[in-house]
Amino acid sequence: MTTRRDFLVNLASATGAVVLMPAVTACKNKDEKAAEPAVVAEPTPVTPVEPAKPATPAPPPAPPSARPDDWNAMAYNKERGALGAIPAAYMADINGPDGDNKHLGKHLPYQPKIEAKLLPEGYIAIMYGDPSLGHAKHPNAVKGPDNNNEGHWFNWIRVSRAVDGDREELQSAYASWPEVGEGDNGKYVAVDGGDITADGGRNTVYLCALPAGLKAGDTVRVWGHCLTHGEYVDFLTLG
Ligand SMILES: [Fe+2]
Repeated sequence: MTTRRDFLVNLASATGAVVLMPAVTACKNKDEKAAEPAVVAEPTPVTPVEPAKPATPAPPPAPPSARPDDWNAMAYNKERGALGAIPAAYMADINGPDGDNKHLGKHLPYQPKIEAKLLPEGYIAIMYGDPSLGHAKHPNAVKGPDNNNEGHWFNWIRVSRAVDGDREELQSAYASWPEVGEGDNGKYVAVDGGDITADGGRNTVYLCALPAGLKAGDTVRVWGHCLTHGEYVDFLTLG
């Protein structure tokens, strides 16, 4: 004989629902309504809400291809640096006392005078921090605690003809210092032909690949990345 309890158990297994069992025996002689089982639907599964991810900051804007008439390397690099091209901690130094010369100017390229035999065909010689402008000379260093073990040198430098529209841009890579890495197309030479590690690495000349067809008097855009201090852009007229 099927009892009321058996019925409720069967109902629960047939529907998958949770059936609250009233105290059937206790209610046998009471109002049937009071003993009606309440059928409770399974709770709707709640989709877990993923914690909001921090927004990825937008990359800094691409530099202008051609040299603007009102080009100001200091102002431009400060503005682009504040948009993420330069680490915030270093922006504080750049905006600090004598920051133009001691920090930002130290990362602006110039063409040193070097013996012709030190400059391979198809390359431009670049140093950072022109002392004739009052800028600190950029040091270079191997990986160590002073540079978050990242090293301190320009690990890539892109050179392109400074014109709008389609134009070739060559990137010279420097995976290590004072010797270039295996497979690097960038080269080093000391400004005096000696030791590039002398004077805290300030003798280092970066030899960067030049797009074909450029000649003295042409303007190039030089866009480089210092491992510890970020990206810097300037325009140079080939000497
Ligand atoms: Fe630097």
